[in-house]
Amino acid sequence: MQALVIDQLTKQFERFTAVDHISLEMQRGEIFGLLGPNGAGKTTTIRILLGLLLPTSGRATVLGLDAVKDAEKIRQRSGYVSQKFALYPDLTAAENFDFYAHVYGVRGARLTERRRALLEQVGLAGAEKQRVAALAGGSRQRLALACALAHEPEFLFLDEPTAGVDALSRRALWNLAYDLAERGTSILVTTHYMDEAENCNRIAFLYQGKIVAEGAPFEIKHAQGRAQVVEVACEPLDLALNALRDAQWFDEVALYGSNLHLLSPDAAARIEMVKQLLAAKQIHVQRVEQIEPSLEDAFIARLRSADRSRK
Ligand SMILES: Nc1ncnc2c1ncn2[C@@H]1O[C@H](COP(=O)(O)OP(=O)(O)OP(=O)(O)O)[C@@H](O)[C@H]1O
Ligand SMILES: [Mg+2]
Repeated sequence: MQALVIDQLTKQFERFTAVDHISLEMQRGEIFGLLGPNGAGKTTTIRILLGLLLPTSGRATVLGLDAVKDAEKIRQRSGYVSQKFALYPDLTAAENFDFYAHVYGVRGARLTERRRALLEQVGLAGAEKQRVAALAGGSRQRLALACALAHEPEFLFLDEPTAGVDALSRRALWNLAYDLAERGTSILVTTHYMDEAENCNRIAFLYQGKIVAEGAPFEIKHAQGRAQVVEVACEPLDLALNALRDAQWFDEVALYGSNLHLLSPDAAARIEMVKQLLAAKQIHVQRVEQIEPSLEDAFIARLRSADRSRK
């Protein structure tokens, strides 16, 4: 049985469609990444799966349980680290843990053992008596994860667990996710960080409520019809950016660190034209070459083609 099945799920808020006929499936023990810009519909999707919002149409099952009819059972068997996780700042780490454990019916000796094991696992052993207000952001997120795991959930929803978290804590959170998945926990995680998408077994890009790409990170980068990417190192960058946008040869001309990325299905064939154009504009060119698309390039290319097919 699949850990998650979403079938043509749609959520409208009055006339606005936040989630637009999305379908996807997830195997048990899989780490599935839901990516997308602000407002794409990631949190709304998670809230429907947890039975906190009713879908307008379509259906979804989590661990074989219906998101509308069996919401209470889903919540009992799931952990949820929400985007704005409600830890109590005035309570200590241990008190916060105990509060969430109680909500999930974990008590007595089992609670004591879970608290010890989980706080140790998330690197907070010794911090039990610290008030949450005094913890750094990364430690808070790790505590939030420990709280969400109090009742040994089979399914874990993580809504931007690493937003605003330092690199070390990000790494620690991902390592914990791997451990959990290895032991069979199914994890649905949202993130803004493209590099983190590579940590997932599979990902879906959500854009304006629709799934515009889905698959293993590797497959998305190498999918048929993908954009070719040409990287340009030159000076001054802003002049080159404008000239290349004005030329309208590429679906996207984007700043990428201190370089430009030119994206389109036939970008590589235009390398000579680019060199000539930039030379004619007195732009000093260091390098123009085709490179392997990053996941971010692949994502941008999909968004552009989604935009085009809408027009
Ligand atoms: N209760 C609501 N009523 C009306 N509109 C809503 C409601 N909840 C969400 N929306 C809208 O639905 C869209 C999707 O929101 P959602 O929070 O799911 O996006 P998201 O992908 O989680 O974004 P972010 O990355 O910023 O967290 C947004 O445009 C949001 O304003
Ligand atoms: Mg969100």
